[in-house]
Amino acid sequence: MKLKIETWLECVACGTKYDLNSIRYNCDCGDILDVCRDLSSIDGDALKATWDSRWGMKRGVLSSGVWRYKELILDTEEENIISKQEGNTRLYPSGLAGEYAGLNNFYLKHEGENPSGSFKDRGMTCGITAAKLYNAKTVACASTGNTSASMAAYAAVWQKPSVIFIPEGKIAYGKLAQALAYGGITLQIDGNFDDAMTLVQEVCAELNIYLLNSINPFRIEGQKAIGFEVLQQLDWEVPDWFIIPGGNLGNNSALTKGLKELYDLGIINKIPRVAVIQADGANPLYTMWKNKTDFSPVKDPETIATAIKIGNPVSWKKSLRGLEWCNGVVEEVTEQEIMDAKAMVDRAGIGAEPASCCSVAGAKKLVDKGIISPDEHVVGILTGNILKDPDAVVGYHKDTLGNMGIKGSFANKPQAVEANLDAVKKILENLI
Ligand code: F0G
Repeated sequence: MKLKIETWLECVACGTKYDLNSIRYNCDCGDILDVCRDLSSIDGDALKATWDSRWGMKRGVLSSGVWRYKELILDTEEENIISKQEGNTRLYPSGLAGEYAGLNNFYLKHEGENPSGSFKDRGMTCGITAAKLYNAKTVACASTGNTSASMAAYAAVWQKPSVIFIPEGKIAYGKLAQALAYGGITLQIDGNFDDAMTLVQEVCAELNIYLLNSINPFRIEGQKAIGFEVLQQLDWEVPDWFIIPGGNLGNNSALTKGLKELYDLGIINKIPRVAVIQADGANPLYTMWKNKTDFSPVKDPETIATAIKIGNPVSWKKSLRGLEWCNGVVEEVTEQEIMDAKAMVDRAGIGAEPASCCSVAGAKKLVDKGIISPDEHVVGILTGNILKDPDAVVGYHKDTLGNMGIKGSFANKPQAVEANLDAVKKILENLI
């Protein structure tokens, strides 16, 4: 692979460097890799001016909210890039969700507004472009649903086969529907995401298939654009906090990596703190961070937020490194806290899938604990679209999630009514 800026792969643990001539996801020592580039060859002020000049471009690859920042993503010729005009997602005032969290300056970055309905599209456009540059013939991933939906869509655009490994019966319906609809070869395995992740790595090595999980360092490069775009939307004024859900831990690793690059280039001059929020039934990073212990996987992760039902996250080392850099924190939230926060995000007119709402549940918890103060400027990342998981929404509002220990505290139950004016008037009397 030939890029304009000098770029290489580097091991997060031992620092060994590799050139980009061959495909690699791991160092010889077994650990994972970063994409690194020669930042000394980049003038930060000039780069920021270039990025600002691209803001609002109407068409073309550089109108994408990922490729606008291509110099720090993957600096290849535009004709190599496979894009679905991803990014350019809204940054909403949080409304009711902010009141619920107890924050006065809270924005929600809605990554569920990406083309396939999740932030994965940002990493995927970069990963699939790398696949093309490496002349790959087939791509694959293990997924809790969103990565597979995104990969299948991008592979469809590129007109190459994609192979998806999903835990049977454990992914949200909207995501499964997308994988099938976009033509992904969908293999449902008898096991959880962590089993699927192990298997896909074996399969890719054996069958020479290009792996598009976030262990692929090019995926991480694309996802850095979430932070870049938030900052550009804020006219480069750095918030005090970013709050982001954590599952396989690629996304928060991408966020801190990108922020550090901006800081090192002088594009920002303050380091925001990052809070990573995990579900308490799938919380290996939280446990490790809180108890200052070694990493230990959670064996049978469980949460209604199926997107983050992950016990053995691939990127925990990158995640910790980023948190150390920004003086970040890790928090865990209960099932009830996730779904109540989701009810508030939804009622705010914004709406997002359960895992996303860890950002708001976590914000509330960190405010309650006094770690974030009410007037601080906070950006929460909503990672996936509300329609990804209709079962969770309807279950909560019909209050039928008791078997998972979840009450419909803010349920908006559908009501049966006779089809006549009087009956309708009677119901509405007390409601409007
Ligand atoms: N939110 C949503 C909606 C997700 O789909 C995921 C991950 C995360 C948060 C967590 O991000 O893994 O980078 O820490 N979903 C993956 C998938 C694992 O297969 O779609 P992370």
